[in-house]
Amino acid sequence: MPKGPGWPMLGAAWPLLRDPLAYLRDAYASLGPIFEVGAAHRSFVVLAGKQANRFIAGAGRGALRSDGFWGRFAAHRQCPHLMIAMDGPDHLALRKLYKDDLTRAVVDARREDVAAVTLEQLDHAADGGDFGVLDVVRRLVSRQVHDLLSHGAPPPPDEATEAVRESFRWETNALLLGKWPELALRLPQYRRHAQRSEALLEELVASAREDPPAGWFAHTLQGAETMPELFTEGDIRGGFLLPFVAGVDTVGATLGFLLHEVLGDPELLARLVAAVDPLFEDGVPTYSALKGTPVLHATVREALRLYPAAFGVYRRAGSTFRFADHEVAEGRDVLVFTTSTHTDPQYFADPLRFDVDRFLPPREEHKQSAVFAPFGGGPHVCLGAGMGMAQLLLGLALVVRHFEGEVVAPDGPLRPFYDPSLSPPPELRIRLSRR
Ligand code: HEM
Repeated sequence: MPKGPGWPMLGAAWPLLRDPLAYLRDAYASLGPIFEVGAAHRSFVVLAGKQANRFIAGAGRGALRSDGFWGRFAAHRQCPHLMIAMDGPDHLALRKLYKDDLTRAVVDARREDVAAVTLEQLDHAADGGDFGVLDVVRRLVSRQVHDLLSHGAPPPPDEATEAVRESFRWETNALLLGKWPELALRLPQYRRHAQRSEALLEELVASAREDPPAGWFAHTLQGAETMPELFTEGDIRGGFLLPFVAGVDTVGATLGFLLHEVLGDPELLARLVAAVDPLFEDGVPTYSALKGTPVLHATVREALRLYPAAFGVYRRAGSTFRFADHEVAEGRDVLVFTTSTHTDPQYFADPLRFDVDRFLPPREEHKQSAVFAPFGGGPHVCLGAGMGMAQLLLGLALVVRHFEGEVVAPDGPLRPFYDPSLSPPPELRIRLSRR
C-alpha cells in the first residue's frame, strides 16, 4: 500500500498537526484513493476519492466500525450507548428515536426565535467595534442549538456551554486524535471544564424531567423509558451532550468562513443583498424560501465544500476488507476522507477558489454522484444536516439583510486552524454595523 510522506520516527506527525486537510489533499493527489499514514506512535489507512464515499455507504457499511474510534470517548464519558460510537441495529434504533428532532422543519417552526437569538448576538458583538469571529459564531450557534433542542427554554450561561465545548476539545485531542498525551486529562484546567460541563448536563436533564420539553431532549427521556438497555444515566447525559458537540463547532465554523468570504467580496455581497432583501418582506423567511434563493444556497454550499468542518470520518476495520486493490486488515484504524473529492480538479474546477457560481446553472459541478459530501456518508451520515443547513441559510440571510461590514484582519488568506475541527483562525476579525 502506498505510504503518505513523512519523516523518520515522527512520520507525518508535524504536517498532520499543522494542516491535516492540506496533507491529506496532497497525499490523495499524488498517491490515489488508498494510502497509509504513520504519525509518531500511530498509523492509519486513508480511503479517499469517489469510491471511498461509495464504499462507506455501500459495501463498507459492515466492515467500518465507529465504536473502535469513538468508543474511547464514550467510555471516558460513561455513556456506552452514545449514538456516534455505536454500530448495527442499536445505532439504527437511536437514529429512529431522534429522526424528527434535528430537521429543517424544527428550525422553520422556530425561525422567529432563531432570528432573534442571532440578531441579539450579532448586535452585541457589533457594539464593541471590531470583534473576533470564532468566539462570536460559537456562542451564537450554541444559543441557537439550545433554543432548537429545548424548544425555547431560557439559555444556560455562556460559560457553561463554553465548558462543554472546551472539555470536548481536550477529550478529542487527548483521547481520539492522539494530538496530546492522555495525561492532559489529569490537569486541573481540563477537570474544571469537565466538571462544569457535567453539571450543566445534569441541570438540563433535571429540568427536562421536571417539565418535559418537545423534541430531542424529550426523546432522550422517552428512549430511557422504552429502551432502558440503551440509556444508562451516563447515556442520558451523553444524549443531551451530543447535538452540542456535533452541531456547534460545525455550524459555527461554516458561518465564520461565510462571514469572511462574503464581507471580503463586495460583488458577491451585492448579489446576496439583491436576492435576500425581498425575502424579508413578510417577516423571517421560511426554509423553502431561503433554499429557493439560488445565490444564497450556492454560497452556503460553496463554504461547505471549500471549508469542510468535518473533512473526514474515523473508523476501525471490524473485519478484513479490500479497497482499491489493497487489503485492509481487521483492527486497522481507518480515516475515510469523505471530502477528498471537494478539491479534486476532476470534479470541481480551480478547486481552491471560493466561487459560488460552480453550484449554479450552467455549471452545477456538484451534480455528480458521490463528490459533494460535507455531512459524511453511510450509517452515521449527519443526522443534523437539515437543521445545520437551515441554520446556515437563515444565519447568512440575516447578516446580509441587516448588516454591512468588512474584514479587519487578517489582511490576506486565512491561516488553517484546527480546533479540533477545521475552524476560522482566532485572528479573523470583522466589523459589522446595522444597514
Ligand atoms: C455544517 C454543519 C454540519 C456538518 C458539516 C456536520 C458534519 C457531520 C459529519 C461529517 C457527521 C458524520 C460523523 C461520522 O460519521 O463519524 C455528522 C454526524 C452527526 N451530526 Fe452533524 N454536521 C453538521 C451539523 C450538525 C448539527 C447542527 C447537528 C445537531 C444539532 C448535528 C448532529 C449530528 C449527529 C447527532 C451526528 C451523529 C449521527 C450518527 O452517529 O448516526 N450535526 N455530522
